[in-house]
Amino acid sequence: MDQEEKGLRAGEIASVKILLIGDSGVGKSSLLAAYADKNRFSNEITSTIGIDYRAKRVKIDGKTILAQIWDTAGQERFRTITTAYYRGTHCSLLVFDLSNPKTFEDCNFWLQNIRIYAGDVPVILVGNKMDKIRSDRLVTEATIAAAEAFAAKEKIPLVLLSTKEEAGKTGSKIDQLFQSIIRLGHQRVSARDGALIDIEKQEKKACCSS
Ligand code: GTP
Ligand code: MG
Repeated sequence: MDQEEKGLRAGEIASVKILLIGDSGVGKSSLLAAYADKNRFSNEITSTIGIDYRAKRVKIDGKTILAQIWDTAGQERFRTITTAYYRGTHCSLLVFDLSNPKTFEDCNFWLQNIRIYAGDVPVILVGNKMDKIRSDRLVTEATIAAAEAFAAKEKIPLVLLSTKEEAGKTGSKIDQLFQSIIRLGHQRVSARDGALIDIEKQEKKACCSS
């Protein structure tokens, strides 16, 4: 990993840590490769071992933000390793496979995990492999309806897309998705730093005011 990629450069205002979570095989690494590496879609992508990392500089509302994106392995045997990376997360993409209902059912578990280990951070629920629904009809409208209900209950946005169809397009749904989560993560960083400053002021007042 390039060390420079990890640090903030002059003029950059914030770094945002984004965590990709969800079952194995839902397409987390495919999504990240399409976004950060501008890679075309590949059926040959291998399952992530432990954790992967990409850094990308993004302009949002005229500010340059360093997006640090952590791509976790969905396989259960890596759970201890991956959970260690939840700390300090500012926001998360929770991905499931629209053609595999089990991966949606597991979203409850993943969301609980993020709440326990990262706190009340912004999350976007991502239903991937839209193309499979259309071609294979593997999943009925019921899965989408269930995902919509879950997202509404948890008050998180839901995005449906096909990494296969979107990869390689400019201004794709993938780009829009990452812009949205980085923006939400950055708002979280700003809010938290604001709160910290306030606390520091309060503490100063309390210690030095009499
Ligand atoms: P782990 O690393 O094991 O957690 O899996 P992952 O979530 O990173 O999944 P990965 O990106 O490795 O993709 C798994 C498989 O799904 C690969 O064969 C991909 O080519 C395929 N895939 C990913 N996105 C799509 C999609 O939008 N449509 C279709 N049809 N296949 C997809
Ligand atoms: Mg992966």
